[in-house]
Amino acid sequence: MTDRPALSLNPGSRGSRVLGIGSAQPDKIVTNDDLSQLMETNDQWIRDRVGIIERRFAEKDESLTDFAVAAGTAALADAGVDPSEVDTVILPNCTMPTLIPNAAAQVAARIGIPSPGAFDLNAACAGFCYGLGVASDLIRAGSAKKVLVIGAEKLTDSVDPVDRANAIIFADGAGAAVVGAADEPGIGPVTWGSAGDLVDLIYMRDDKYIYQEGQSVFRWATTKIAPIAMQALDAAGLKPSDVDVLIPHQANLRIVEAIAKKLRANGAREDMVVADDIKYSGNTSSASIPLALDHMRKAGTAKPGDVVLAVGFGAGLSYAGQAFVCP
Ligand code: UT7
Repeated sequence: MTDRPALSLNPGSRGSRVLGIGSAQPDKIVTNDDLSQLMETNDQWIRDRVGIIERRFAEKDESLTDFAVAAGTAALADAGVDPSEVDTVILPNCTMPTLIPNAAAQVAARIGIPSPGAFDLNAACAGFCYGLGVASDLIRAGSAKKVLVIGAEKLTDSVDPVDRANAIIFADGAGAAVVGAADEPGIGPVTWGSAGDLVDLIYMRDDKYIYQEGQSVFRWATTKIAPIAMQALDAAGLKPSDVDVLIPHQANLRIVEAIAKKLRANGAREDMVVADDIKYSGNTSSASIPLALDHMRKAGTAKPGDVVLAVGFGAGLSYAGQAFVCP
């Protein structure tokens, strides 16, 4: 055996934190009444069973990468970080029409980020929390200094426009977070996992449209996800009563409310703010959590310093959550 030199590590940082948030949505608003012109559905059913009042659909010439560029640019401005400072771009999504090239590198170039490490990450609707977990650990390990995480989707390309099980739920948009180093921990450990035995509950069919067994996914989400959120809190050394803002993936308002109810039964406060962005944004998969947070900060319902608990879940089946401090 030859002697080899010891490898050295970049000094990481004690903590990581979210430095800024941004989002982007199409201008086109689609109401429940608009959808009822296309398929057998109605405003009351959608409001009662899903909680959506309206959503945003992209035009044909608007792409996932367009929304990602706009959201990423807004997040950098919010953080006061120049694009030249970013060394890594992670782009959670599950609707990029091409696998090659990926979205992250081209989005980074359009934002003006010079030669970053850039990769897409597919954990479907759990994607943003997966990406935030990876970003935080890259920074703490010393592999990255500033990471831009952008959840972006154009789901209308992947939904049969007259499939009333899906066309009423899914929508388009992007949400982004800038993650950097901090002296104190500002992002808790990610708690993640998957249930690959349930892969048949949501998948992309051969015709490239999404299929989901809605009721089964609903039951899984309302039983399995609150305990995951609680584990994420525990991993961060926090209690349910510490949570100021709860942001579950915006899949269905009834799922969001079921998760909030379980957390409150375990000590979360009545005045904990619960994201209901699905009402006006629909289900935007990996974009839904940062999109909701951006809207809540702008509305003043999520404030700098608040403890945010985010939890994503969806196809895979995949799930992930973490607590972090609101920028
Ligand atoms: O984001 C990724 C993860 N995905 C999720 O978390 C989605 C979870 N699942 C859901 O959110 C719900 O299961 C759906 C919103 C997809 C469906 O709602 P549901 O309450 O589970 O509806 P259902 O499929 O059980 O259908 C109930 C009834 C049926 O009529 P009958 O048989 O009771 O007479 C359906 O035919 O509602 C009918 N229905 C509709 N009616 C009007 C189903 N879809 C519609 C519709 N408009 N769009």
